[in-house]
Amino acid sequence: MFNRRLINPKLPSIWHGGDYSPEQWPTEVWDEDVRLMQLTRFTVATMGMFAWARMEPEEGRFDFDWLDDVVDRLTKGSRCFILGTPSAAPPAWLSKKYPETLRTGADGVRRGHGNRVNFNWASPIYREKCQEIVRRMAARYGAHPNLVAWHFSNEYGGEDYSEQSKAAFRQWLRRKFANDLDALNHAYWSAFWSHTYGDWDEIDPPGQPYGESAVNGLTVDWMRFNTDQAVDFMLHEAEPLRTLSPGVPVTTNMMGTYPGLDYRRFARHLDFISWDSYPAPHASHSAAETWVATGFKHDLMRSLKPDAPWLLMEYTPSSANWYDHMTLKRPGMHRFESYHALAHGADGLQYFQWRQSRGCAEQFHGAVVSHSGAENTRVFNEILELGKELEGLTDLPGSLVKSDIAIVFDWENRWALDAACGPVRAEKGYEQTCIDHYKAFYNGGYAVDIVGMDDDLSRYRLVVAPMAYSLRPGFVDRLHRYVEDGGVLLTTYLSGWVDENSLVFEGGFLAPLRKLLGIWSEELDALQPGQGNRLEVLDRNDLGVEGRFEARDFCELIHTETAEVWGVFKDDFYAGRPALTENRYGRGSAVYVGARMEQGFLDKILLHLARRVGAEASIDVALPQGVIARLRKSTDRAFHFLLNSGSSRVTVNSPTWGQIHLGPFDATMLERSLAILGEVR
Ligand code: GLA
Repeated sequence: MFNRRLINPKLPSIWHGGDYSPEQWPTEVWDEDVRLMQLTRFTVATMGMFAWARMEPEEGRFDFDWLDDVVDRLTKGSRCFILGTPSAAPPAWLSKKYPETLRTGADGVRRGHGNRVNFNWASPIYREKCQEIVRRMAARYGAHPNLVAWHFSNEYGGEDYSEQSKAAFRQWLRRKFANDLDALNHAYWSAFWSHTYGDWDEIDPPGQPYGESAVNGLTVDWMRFNTDQAVDFMLHEAEPLRTLSPGVPVTTNMMGTYPGLDYRRFARHLDFISWDSYPAPHASHSAAETWVATGFKHDLMRSLKPDAPWLLMEYTPSSANWYDHMTLKRPGMHRFESYHALAHGADGLQYFQWRQSRGCAEQFHGAVVSHSGAENTRVFNEILELGKELEGLTDLPGSLVKSDIAIVFDWENRWALDAACGPVRAEKGYEQTCIDHYKAFYNGGYAVDIVGMDDDLSRYRLVVAPMAYSLRPGFVDRLHRYVEDGGVLLTTYLSGWVDENSLVFEGGFLAPLRKLLGIWSEELDALQPGQGNRLEVLDRNDLGVEGRFEARDFCELIHTETAEVWGVFKDDFYAGRPALTENRYGRGSAVYVGARMEQGFLDKILLHLARRVGAEASIDVALPQGVIARLRKSTDRAFHFLLNSGSSRVTVNSPTWGQIHLGPFDATMLERSLAILGEVR
């Protein structure tokens, strides 16, 4: 049964709004803003993230009168607001008086004041100052009837190498290794190059250009610590809200696949997930690829809380000033992008930004209201039309995307792969490989959850874990139980090489998965760019593939034990050796793909497996190229989204809906009652 879970029941529609910076403008402009917001059906505005200098112009002197005024104007009618805590951009007086609050780089140099997200996570004085301003904001607005959410800081990120952070890292390591330095030395294999530590104080964070970069376990632990430190900072700024703004949901704006932070560790402290998405389809070699990657990120973010809707906290109404070329969104593209987010489970669409700033770094960034201030602009009108449409989607909020398929994309695994000195020096392509696997389902009309190694797998019928290089013990256990209980697993080359400390498993590559996969791995061939091999599929298999397919980049040389061989390498000295295997294990089975395969292979095998396990498709029809289908459900309704990512007209022929015509960048949502069809689950 699906429970209708809204982001905040106070605002039960699809949220339509964006970042609003009244602190940059005189009051006459505020009046005009409210008038224009009315026209565009803006239901919510996010404020405060970059207004610290206005809210506390001098240390200890707080000024909220202007914000009271803005809030009054905004909330006339039923408009709501989100408050952002201002920690991302401290005022100049603070940096000047307390320079230790500024961030120190990996080069050991403390940065000057300026830009943003330039603070020291570990500085007690910075934490105190942040808490104080949040306390004041919460005391003033925390119980306001139109406050619908708190938004922590802005795009947490980066690392700090101050003495305080170094000390905190050492404490973190002491906790991890239960004060046992021998355990740390063993885990880090520190006898190598005589890197053995004799005292906790000898441990410095790794980091180029001057620091340690040879101890892989240390590198990954530093990234883990960095996430924990950021979460700890967030919880610290959140503290006053517990008593002064209870019941108001909290979030922070994330950045999709941003490599620096493991967002899963944030998610458990947040009431809902929000993120900032800035795809540039016109700037990429292929618009279709951009939408696949954007869908992947939407699903990654959604899966942080798979049983709740999420909020698109920021996207641009037209262009972003940091693109290489500020190419404009073509007419219709904005609506397409909006429906694309809704189709992936978003319950709100918010822009960066409402009004273009006259000066500074983002003065040319796209906005709802441009420098002209005019309402008869193309962008403004597209947003106005979208606003009207969103008002009509009254049943959609709270409905969910449900998936029978999961792809494992894990930050710690990514860090371990990045830290690994081999099998190639170049980028190993973990994120892109996960996206390539996702693409098969995406184009085939199947929803996918993107999960981490600590997540529950029992809710899925098919789990795909590409390049699962670094395995944590709990994940190994869960994989075994999942397959034993009837699940189907597909994993690939470069899996099961090292443990959570980046130590190669005793018994070699794949050792912990040996019984599950029925194979063991001898070595891996990293091919030169342009070099390839082929995988030949043997007759009669239940994987939906036949013929020969191209392999590139990585070919792993394995031996089978209990697994069945469905495909072999065709070329080179390992021609004839197994490249595609399947092992029955318990009531399920585990498929292994020993090489980086061309997309055609992935499409075939993954869609076949989706059908084989009976995964629910988003619509009852094969989709024309470029058409994306997604399904959301509430307790008694189904919402089928169909989007045409191409620039030509297409027709979808559905037994249920008949002919559906879609123009270029067109999107439609078809709604039906599940109760009538007896499909309520
Ligand atoms: C990010 C930030 C915003 C703004 C936009 C510009 O998402 O959160 O403050 O800088 O980028 O694209």
